[in-house]
Amino acid sequence: MDDLHALIRRHLEQGDAIGWFEALYARAQEEGDPCTVPWVHMAPRRELLEWVFQGQPNGHGRSGLVIGCGLGDDAQILAGLGYRTVAFDVSPTAIRWCRERFPDSPVEFVVADLFHPPAEWHRAFDLVVEGFIVQALPLEMRAETVAACAAFVAPGGTLLAIGLGVDREEERGGPPWPLTLEELALYEAQGLRRIQLQRWDDPEKAPLFRYWAEYRRDGPPGSSRRPQE
Ligand SMILES: C[S@@+](CC[C@H](N)C(=O)[O-])C[C@H]1O[C@@H](n2cnc3c(N)ncnc32)[C@H](O)[C@@H]1O
Repeated sequence: MDDLHALIRRHLEQGDAIGWFEALYARAQEEGDPCTVPWVHMAPRRELLEWVFQGQPNGHGRSGLVIGCGLGDDAQILAGLGYRTVAFDVSPTAIRWCRERFPDSPVEFVVADLFHPPAEWHRAFDLVVEGFIVQALPLEMRAETVAACAAFVAPGGTLLAIGLGVDREEERGGPPWPLTLEELALYEAQGLRRIQLQRWDDPEKAPLFRYWAEYRRDGPPGSSRRPQE
């Protein structure tokens, strides 16, 4: 763990907020164990499953996007619901791993940078999943990161934000940098309306809490430009 923190710190001290993700995945691949990457569980996020069980979304005829998809489990869930799914990550190793793990997947796994996405992804997706992305990037990038995530949501589309929250700023270290409720409201400044917020105060995580938040961009549904049509 010390070694891991030193690696991350080295990147951050050089003003590189992104490069350490690939370094971590590449190191895990060398070690032959993806679970040495701290957030990898080789399973979908339980918050995503909870949202799915609650709302029973039907993705047929709709498009989905998973931001910073890691090893691809959440993208598989979207595809299973019928969404025509694109999942991207800045780490080429992570995307290679996704393709190896799910060789027959209908998901389009793509190497891409959240801050320089293909132009045709702008406001193009009916469902966008942001899982543990905003909190993984430094505080000074927070507004920019939220704006970049929100920009993928089509009129009538939904964004599901999943992560760790904190009530008081002084209770967070970082990385990761959990969100305050005020910071979650940055999504609303991007033209999204909050539909619901679920929070769990897990004693093992205190003072942090887990959350998922569902947002909608008002507008006529079905006006998204679907990928690969
Ligand atoms: C904390 S992990 C979360 C992974 C996955 N979403 C999950 O819930 O387990 C953050 C992910 O975002 C990716 N990432 C970080 N910066 C990115 C960027 N600028 N563009 C695309 N992906 C990025 C990382 O490579 C990593 O896979």
